[in-house]
Amino acid sequence: MLVSAKEMLTKAKAGHYAVGQFNINNLEWTKAVLLTAQELNSPVILGVSEGAGKYMCGYKTVSSMVSAMIDELKITVPVALHLDHGSYEGAFKCIEAGFSSIMFDGSHYPINENIEKTTELVKICAEKGLSLEAEVGSIGGEEDGVVGAGEIADPNECKSIADLGVTMLAAGIGNIHGKYPENWAGLNFDALDAIQQLTGDMPLVLHGGTGIPEDMIKKAISLGVAKINVNTECQLTFAAATRKYIEDGKDLSGKGFDPRKLLAPGFEAIKATVKEKMELFGSVNKA
Ligand code: 13P
Repeated sequence: MLVSAKEMLTKAKAGHYAVGQFNINNLEWTKAVLLTAQELNSPVILGVSEGAGKYMCGYKTVSSMVSAMIDELKITVPVALHLDHGSYEGAFKCIEAGFSSIMFDGSHYPINENIEKTTELVKICAEKGLSLEAEVGSIGGEEDGVVGAGEIADPNECKSIADLGVTMLAAGIGNIHGKYPENWAGLNFDALDAIQQLTGDMPLVLHGGTGIPEDMIKKAISLGVAKINVNTECQLTFAAATRKYIEDGKDLSGKGFDPRKLLAPGFEAIKATVKEKMELFGSVNKA
């Protein structure tokens, strides 16, 4: 059964570790993340971007697939199915489709409009027992074709949004989706510290988990980050493993390509990446 992310993130914030959100793109991806979470006895959040939702034939398909997989694979650790960077309309579609957690990314709206729309969603998610993530200060880099400027969140605006009753808050602190450039200034820990001082127990979310040095991840967790999103790193390891398999000629069985064999190395690569992240974030044995 899918659960809201509220309990797992409240525990993570209090216990000074973070729960990983791993974005899914297909069946193999989903299976790899779920099996790894179960093997490591870790709570987990499956992230679905609007683009990935469309690719997988819509949110109902995703929700049904994930729920059925939890059942068939006998997954007993807490699993939240979460809309990643949802639009206002996308949020309603995912609520309808049975997602257990929603991110409404209103960071590109003026703060008053972000507050207005977030308030509406707080009410609906509370009625349905779903967790809700809001965002203040955009995350840099590209996500589904939208390039964020990467502004640092204003701590007072974070407090205004946190006070609306959201479950968790994503704050831009210099983090970027995708690979970090050579001249990246690093995470802004002064901003994170100020945000956590004003938002108290609110679990904070770190987007752009790919390529952040381990010491920065640990420091971010010590300053209140309780959820870390990883997408690009799984894509990179999946692609590298698949490419190597083809280059080694291992899928040339003479009978054509067997998709199950072709995707197996990528599947194992995602499992290894998820394991490494869960160990780094400290969520192992926290289910
Ligand atoms: P990366 O793609 O940089 O890992 O970021 C993922 C993310 O933040 C999804 O919301």
